[in-house]
Order: sequence, then structure tokens, then C-alpha cells
Amino acid sequence: MKMTQHSVHVDLGARAYDVLIGPGLIAQAGAHIHRLFGRRRAAIVTDATVAGLHLARLQAALRAHGIEAEALALPAGEATKSWDQLGRSVEWLLAQRIGRQDLVIAFGGGVIGDLAGFAAAILRRGVRFVQIPTSLLAQVDSSVGGKTGINSPQGKNLIGAFHQPSLVLADIDVLDTLTPRDFRAGYGEVAKYGLLGDEGFFGWLEANGPALARDPALRAEAVRHSVAMKADIVQRDETEQGDRALLNLGHTFGHALESATGYSDRLLHGEGVAIGCCLAFELSARMGLCSQESPSRVAAHLAAMGLPTRIGDIAGDLPDDEALIALMGQDKKVLDDRLRFVLARGIGQSFVTDQVDIDAVRQVLAQSRGGRR
Ligand code: GLY
Repeated sequence: MKMTQHSVHVDLGARAYDVLIGPGLIAQAGAHIHRLFGRRRAAIVTDATVAGLHLARLQAALRAHGIEAEALALPAGEATKSWDQLGRSVEWLLAQRIGRQDLVIAFGGGVIGDLAGFAAAILRRGVRFVQIPTSLLAQVDSSVGGKTGINSPQGKNLIGAFHQPSLVLADIDVLDTLTPRDFRAGYGEVAKYGLLGDEGFFGWLEANGPALARDPALRAEAVRHSVAMKADIVQRDETEQGDRALLNLGHTFGHALESATGYSDRLLHGEGVAIGCCLAFELSARMGLCSQESPSRVAAHLAAMGLPTRIGDIAGDLPDDEALIALMGQDKKVLDDRLRFVLARGIGQSFVTDQVDIDAVRQVLAQSRGGRR
């Protein structure tokens, strides 16, 4: 497949923006930002790992177009999505004299995109920001759609704002620097798109998924297709009053497992989503919504991609089923105290429901504790 640059337009009226996907976009960042915004003052929020690998290149690309941008490098990891690091970032942006006409650049994975986007949302009541996502997960999901925020001790992403970026630059080349585990975890979110709404794409992933890690053109196509699906959903339902909740396929289970493992290296977000998707399809089959063939096909593909598919794949002790169900109740997707799940009538046919048989949830959790089949 020939390597081209893709562009997906997120059509949100006054808040519309483009997501550019392709190789070399960090080197072109100055040109794209200058073309859209002119020679603004800009400030980069990043993490220590991304800064070490890519920051000098981004700053040089901006400087070549007359944009001098200082950078704040925060600690890498989910713990950075905290009040402390948010306060530190906002104070630093104020010290950099970033004003309403200036730009914040979020340069990193999902943690940095969410935190820097939220800092931009509340700084001087809203400053424009550009997402330059450096993980597969951030490129296909968190950098697009305007969800920004931090975690609370009471749960993930409970504090935040909808604040759309003004531009997203998804440089496919940076994915080469991800660890295989981080790449696989991001792939959990790619597969989610096929599972929630496009069986043809899931079939394409079954055929091409194993080659994505080494074929940049296939990888770019997977990112493009995922972003196009996300843009379509966000355009229909920007603030998650309805259809956008489909993007949470696998997340009710996944967030409970992430919480149970302390948001640590024991289970990365995309791994939790992979197990969560398997559980959502198992639950759907158990409730008679789809045939057993669907969850078997989901688990077979995710396992072939090296992802965990069962609770038993998570190392170490976990809380019991009642505690996991209680953690699901902490999720912000709970409406009027009813657990809300994304279930499926088949691959690519997901829907949101609060009509879930809790006994079936218990059976699915118990069955999933057994480890890989
Ligand atoms: N990551 C889910 C969403 O953006 O709605």
C-alpha cells in the first residue's frame, strides 16, 4: 500500500477541525500550525519520555516557521492526570504568558492530551490547542472528539470538560518508538471500532492486524478508518447524549478492571478495553442477543494480536465479583444508578442499554477468571 497523508474533517460547525494522519507530521508541524494560526505564541505540554524522544524535532519544526515554543515535561504515566499536575501545568502556562490568542500544544499520549486539553479549556476560560498524539491509543481515540480531563480518587476521567482541539497531527512514524506492549494496547481501541460499528473493518483487521506493527501504510489506514468512524459519531453526538456512548464498548468492564489494578502497569487502558470487549460480547451471547460465534471470534482475534482477553490473564490478585460490579457502578457512564453497558447483536452491531441481567454479568465475570483458553 502506498504511503499517503490522510485528512479527516471533524465537522462541528464553529468548532470544526482536521485530523491529519501520515508520516513526517512532526517535521511539518510548524508549517501546518503557521498556516492555520499564523505566528502565535505557543507552549508545549509533554511528558518526560516523549520529550526525550521527539521534543527537539518538534521545537525545531516550529522554530523554522517563527514559532518559539517552550515545553513543560511532566512525569509519564496515568498518575499525571491529577489536580497537582493540572495546577502545575496551568500555572506554568500563565507564567509563559499564554493568552487567549495563543496556542497550547498537547504532545504525548492520552494522558498528556487529556490533561493539556483540560488545562487549555480552563486557562483564561479557554485557549485553543493542538493535539500531536504520540501513542496509537491517542491517535485513534483520545486526541479526537474534545474529551479532556483528569482522574479523581473516586474514578477515572471524573473531572473535565469538552474542549475540541483546533488541529490534530497524527504522525504515524512516532508509533515506531512505542513498546510492543503499548502498541498492542492501542490496538485494543482500533479493534473496538470494528466491533462497535463496522464488521467489514473488523474483517480487514483480522486479515491485516498482525502486519500493522511493521507496515506503516497499513497502520495509517487503520488510524484513518478509526478516526473517520470516531469523527462520524462525534459529529452526531458531541457531548455523549446518545450514540457517542457506543465508543465506550468494553469500557464499563475495562474501567472496573483498571480501577481494581490501581491504574498501574498491571493492566494498560487498551488491555482493559480488550478484556472488556470480550466480556461485553460474552454477556451479549449469554443474554441471547448474539450467537456464541461472535464472542469466540472477538477473543480469537484479540488473542492473536497478543492482547489479554480474560480476567484470568491479569497477573496478581483481584477483588471478587461483587467488588468488581461495585467498581462498575463508580463509572461515570452510570445513569440514574443503573449500570449502562454497550452490548452487541453481532460484530459491528453494538447498542447502549441499561437493561442488563446482573446474574448474567456475575456468570460472565466468573467464567472469565479462568485464564486463557
Ligand atoms: N473515548 C471515548 C470518547 O471519546 O467518547
